[in-house]
Amino acid sequence: MASRVAVGIAGTGSFAPPVVMTNHDFEKLVDTSDEWIVQRTGIRERRFAAADQATSDLCLQAARQALAMAKVDPKELDLIVVGTLTPDYLLPSCSALLQARLGAVNAGAFDVSAACTGFLTALHTGESFIAAGRAKRVLVLGAECLSRFLDMQDRTSCILFGDGAGAAVLMPHEECKSGEILRTTLGADGQGFDFIHMRGGGSKVPPSAESVARGDHFIRLRGREVFRFAVTKMADLIGEMCEGYDPSELGLVVPHQVNQRIIEAAVDRLGWSMDKVFVNIDKYGNTSAATVPMAFHEALEQGRIEKGKLVVFVAFGAGLTWGGTLVRW
Ligand SMILES: CC(C)(COP(=O)(O)OP(=O)(O)OC[C@H]1O[C@@H](n2cnc3c(N)ncnc32)[C@H](O)[C@@H]1OP(=O)(O)O)[C@@H](O)C(=O)NCCC(=O)NCCS
Repeated sequence: MASRVAVGIAGTGSFAPPVVMTNHDFEKLVDTSDEWIVQRTGIRERRFAAADQATSDLCLQAARQALAMAKVDPKELDLIVVGTLTPDYLLPSCSALLQARLGAVNAGAFDVSAACTGFLTALHTGESFIAAGRAKRVLVLGAECLSRFLDMQDRTSCILFGDGAGAAVLMPHEECKSGEILRTTLGADGQGFDFIHMRGGGSKVPPSAESVARGDHFIRLRGREVFRFAVTKMADLIGEMCEGYDPSELGLVVPHQVNQRIIEAAVDRLGWSMDKVFVNIDKYGNTSAATVPMAFHEALEQGRIEKGKLVVFVAFGAGLTWGGTLVRW
């Protein structure tokens, strides 16, 4: 078997759309309060895409930033993979739209559907292509316009989510000498398909006047059950990613920004403190596939990640799906 090519993260990018929705804005829509939302979730505000923006528009901004940081011309890309549950269209893919907008004329393009695990699934896929010698430059993204699928009369779900995009450019580590991907893992348990789901719009419940009237195209969730699953899964994934490494090597954990209390409970379960955990849910809410790459980019910008230290990404979401990645920055 040919030896595996070590893969590095050469650049990152993030884009939060312009419309700021505060908790007070939601007080005008549903029976809720800023206090309840902050205490139960840690969210203070989130961003929504403007009326003329869709997921590929958010991707374009994050991708350009990541390509500039990596000093990669779009024509050098071999592959583009977008993790999203809210593509512009059901057909064709968001990645194909992005490929055209970037002028990435030599790149293949496809989306992956793994909900909040979308970015880590795209990263795992891109890493595998390069490791196997099938590609040299891969652009991976997690991006969502969740605001288009929120029931603004359902207080148990509408306050949780926001829109955004995050990107990373992958290449052989010996070329970029940064962000070596040491471990990746993906998992799923489709038995939990109805923990978080959108019933309508697919082949099971095709769009119709009746399905729209029932609100089948909105995101529904069983929040309490997700909460329980999430705490254990997040703690297990962080533990699994760090196994065999000395705790002093850990620089930062960048978890899926699902709920401040879920993150704190998982970290508490590990017996760790929050100092090495990055949280920005207060500003963006849960942007599903976009949380990890947006948070990672922001952590880098803030100088929170020291060269040579380990960075852990963990995420889970609808499916159920989950993933983890260990990187040496
Ligand atoms: C949704 C979530 C914030 C709810 O927090 P919680 O502490 O579990 O709260 P509960 O669901 O137990 O609800 C407590 C009460 O608050 C009420 N409530 C729910 N949403 C509310 C809101 N936005 N404002 C005010 N009250 C609200 C509930 O109706 C309930 O009232 P009741 O006790 O009279 O029935 C939390 O469970 C969570 O974050 N779950 C995971 C979310 C998820 O699935 N994200 C996507 C997957 S990645």
